[in-house]
Amino acid sequence: MQKDEIVRLLADEENEADLLKRADEVRRQNVGDAVHLRGLIEFSNICRNNCLYCGIRRGNRKVARYHMQPEELIETARKAADMGFKTVVLQSGEDMFYTAERMCHIIEAIKKFDVAVTLSIGERSYEDYKSFREAGADRYLMRIETTDKDLYHKLDPNMSWQQRYECLLMIRELGYELGSGIMVGLPEQTIESIADDLLFLRDLDVDMAGIGPFIPHPETPLAHEKGGMLHLALRTMAVMRLLMPDINIPATTAMESLHPQGRLMALQGGANVVMPNVTEGEYRRLYELYPGKICVNDTPVHCRSCIGMKIMSIGRTIGEGYGGHQKRR
Ligand code: 5AD
Ligand code: FES
Repeated sequence: MQKDEIVRLLADEENEADLLKRADEVRRQNVGDAVHLRGLIEFSNICRNNCLYCGIRRGNRKVARYHMQPEELIETARKAADMGFKTVVLQSGEDMFYTAERMCHIIEAIKKFDVAVTLSIGERSYEDYKSFREAGADRYLMRIETTDKDLYHKLDPNMSWQQRYECLLMIRELGYELGSGIMVGLPEQTIESIADDLLFLRDLDVDMAGIGPFIPHPETPLAHEKGGMLHLALRTMAVMRLLMPDINIPATTAMESLHPQGRLMALQGGANVVMPNVTEGEYRRLYELYPGKICVNDTPVHCRSCIGMKIMSIGRTIGEGYGGHQKRR
């Protein structure tokens, strides 16, 4: 698919239902009806960065900061494994309390629970990525956020697009399954730029692509921006499925935060993965990347059963294996 065709599909609000239906069919043929669940642990909201869109940016003084201690994180992962999750995702801000040594200890402990381990902890050195991999980490998630470099540098002060890209290359080279993705509906972002993002993810040959709508957070400099573009995000996700028929594509939490059926709409428009939150207690509320985030007052058990019922209600099944990317090419 060429860029002009992608732009046309993204802009075509009228035929969105047809696009999602096509993506749903491509999903069914290539990865089947199983929905893979990942238990998401938000283990620290401490971050050295100051991204303009993000609710846990360093500059937000209104959020109480926490990080779990390593043993608490391992225990949370153990409970997720006991609940039947075959993948746990360890996500945090860029919190340097978590040295390579601490992370490796955690990864080694969690790997004993017979789960795939996905890391989502941002930019680190090659040596760190290498040691995490040697400790047993299977996958790594890091969104490129946007491939419009000017926009990236405006939104992520003191960060470098090129450096982030190089991190993604290192992660892939080290043999991780690589997940990346973008936000849709950022201020000044154009449809053409989203088309470039999709082609970038294809060329990077990602194993997973997460696409979520930007939702403005009141305690950030983007508080008064528009955002909330659920339908454009759904179309973007559907085109991603057409471009990469056999990868993993999550129905993102941000979609459901904009609409009570957001994740089901996504699962019926190309998505095949859901990442229910298994973080406990008040940490959930404090990990507020954007306002209106779902499930902040729920428990892991509640979320697991809620999403399980939703998935069954649309005639889909829950994946039983690790649910990694099975290349069909
Ligand atoms: N709205 C939507 N998504 C956001 N993220 C961060 N801030 C927001 C926001 N305000 C996303 C980023 C990041 C992921 C963990 O959460 O894409 O990579
Ligand atoms: Fe930390 Fe955005 S400010 S990820």
